[in-house]
Amino acid sequence: MEPKLRSGTPADAEACGTICYEAFKAISEAHGFVPDFPAPEVAIDVLTQMLTNPKFYSVVAEIDGRIVGSNFLDERNRIAGVGPITVDPAVQNRAIGRRLMDAVHERATDKNFVGVRLIQAGFHTRSLSLYAKLGYDVREHLACMQGNVLGVSIEGHVARSATEADINSCNQLCQQVHGHDRGGELKDAIARGSATVVEHDGRITGYASVVGFFGHALGETNKDLKALIGAAKEFAGPGFLLPTRNGELFRWCLSNGLRVAQPMTLMSKGLYNEPAGAFLPSILY
Ligand SMILES: CC(C)(COP(=O)(O)OP(=O)(O)OC[C@H]1O[C@@H](n2cnc3c(N)ncnc32)[C@H](O)[C@@H]1OP(=O)(O)O)[C@@H](O)C(=O)NCCC(=O)NCCS
Repeated sequence: MEPKLRSGTPADAEACGTICYEAFKAISEAHGFVPDFPAPEVAIDVLTQMLTNPKFYSVVAEIDGRIVGSNFLDERNRIAGVGPITVDPAVQNRAIGRRLMDAVHERATDKNFVGVRLIQAGFHTRSLSLYAKLGYDVREHLACMQGNVLGVSIEGHVARSATEADINSCNQLCQQVHGHDRGGELKDAIARGSATVVEHDGRITGYASVVGFFGHALGETNKDLKALIGAAKEFAGPGFLLPTRNGELFRWCLSNGLRVAQPMTLMSKGLYNEPAGAFLPSILY
């Protein structure tokens, strides 16, 4: 049955959020993992924020006037972030996901984004296959890390709350590490009061929009990331995403008692610069 696609509106949040919750719950529980969203209300809340933010493009799939899935494009930065994409478990594996992915790719092309990225649930064979078929390359294997806060400080690397005055330095640092800045997200995080920076030798050498599922972080060295992780008041959501190729940081987290909640994969299509520094991606990439 051919789905009809249209733009999302805030009125779709409840139906899309409920499907989002059910779809992730079904796939996580089938593999013995804790669902990403603990309750439908949390997914509805996240999608409400996206559906009401003009910097997010949304697409909804309907069959016979009933919503069966949705997808999003985070347009706050030069590289766009795809997801969360979810399809009603009752109609999965019938090409609705492919249609929802095609729709955000068309949008990304129209808006001249040089690349798109997403984070994939590492245990999910279907999404991995679909994204690879659509042209995405695997860039990083990630571990979603969770546990008690560390309360650890790193000598000479001091973490503090970020302010608007830090944005330029943070954007320069992001440019240095990733080849583009993520100023749109950082600005939102500073407004929410969740962003932190780390200072070393009198200058900013790292920052985090949030040390958690929906936040990204980066630094010149692992010491900067350790200072940010060590100072975090919580690891919001299911956990923060750590590239396991960074074995030194991974082992430091493990030796401080953090645990791997689930494997995930960073995938990209279009422009991708190999990061020149330490980083933690967000679930939105
Ligand atoms: C992931 C999801 C959005 C995909 O949507 P869908 O409508 O089920 O998927 P589609 O039918 O469009 O596409 C699946 C594709 O993968 C292929 N596929 C599925 N399992 C496969 C496997 N094990 N090996 C190879 N290919 C596989 C299918 O053949 C199909 O390919 P095609 O488009 O060339 O025919 C949906 O399954 C979902 O909501 N899952 C739960 C939530 C989730 O994981 N979201 C993504 C977070 S990363």
